[in-house]
Amino acid sequence: MSVWCKKFRFAWIDGSLVECEKAQVHVLTHALHYGTGVFEGIRGYWNGENLYVFRLREHMERMLVSAKMVGLKLDYKVEQLVDATVEVIKANGFKENIYIRPIAFAGEGTISLDISGVPVRVAITAFPFGHYLKPEGVRVKIVSWRRIPSFSLPISAKATGIYLNSVVSLAEAKKEGYDEAVLLDWRGYISEGSGENIFIVRKGVIATPPVTASILEGITRDSVIKIARDLGYTVEERDITRDELHSANEAFMTGTAAEITPIVEVDGKPVGDGKPGPITIKLQKEYGDIVMAKNKKYMEWLTPVY
Ligand SMILES: Cc1ncc(COP(=O)(O)O)c(C=O)c1O
Repeated sequence: MSVWCKKFRFAWIDGSLVECEKAQVHVLTHALHYGTGVFEGIRGYWNGENLYVFRLREHMERMLVSAKMVGLKLDYKVEQLVDATVEVIKANGFKENIYIRPIAFAGEGTISLDISGVPVRVAITAFPFGHYLKPEGVRVKIVSWRRIPSFSLPISAKATGIYLNSVVSLAEAKKEGYDEAVLLDWRGYISEGSGENIFIVRKGVIATPPVTASILEGITRDSVIKIARDLGYTVEERDITRDELHSANEAFMTGTAAEITPIVEVDGKPVGDGKPGPITIKLQKEYGDIVMAKNKKYMEWLTPVY
């Protein structure tokens, strides 16, 4: 039995619900060999009364853009993928916090690098999920690998093959005893974490690297920019130097899996006084309330499942 089948009963594959044990692919699946897939990471939050999926539509929109960038022809509209996600969550009957993983990938038929004739498959799985990074704060290392630039790959796509860049970076950070990696872009400016965007706070002003710093344009990043501005903070999207990260008063990471995670140490140096800063804590609390449907102002970001 797959370890996954202890966590969920049904997957959604190519339009139908499939028992977990049957949710399999052939070893000659194109995407397995060449990284020809695009995917999403989405969270669903159970607040005791209903399960709310956070920014589901925006995630599915990004997946369709990713597919276009990579050249995978997807025959689904955003609404169909949204409905399929709700269907698979309901089928599993989850009443707890979950992670949702849609993926579209080049299937079987060829070992050629030409994907124009390869069937594209789509799967959506969901399973119970807790914290990805320590919510009380992580120690990060600026690793020696650079984030893949947009002149080498369409990095606005959340594509499977691109993640090898993250895998080797995280391995380097972990090997040296850190919790997470930070990558510089090709120019030497701060880009992002292995699976998160980065923010710093200096003298009360919040800043995050721009889209041109080889980042994945995170949906949590977008949410945090909006929430912070709504709270009255100034948020700048601008290049950030390594030195500015080292000397920031506060720093944090954002991502669907990471949510808002304080950075308490960079390259062995404490960020601020080495504890999560007040603005980070405030944003963490606000974000937590929003995803749990406790803040009516942001209800349009939530899709109720039941
Ligand atoms: C490389 C990378 N950057 C940033 C993010 C944050 O994106 P989002 O907030 O949309 O989850 C992720 C996670 O999906 C990621 O993998």
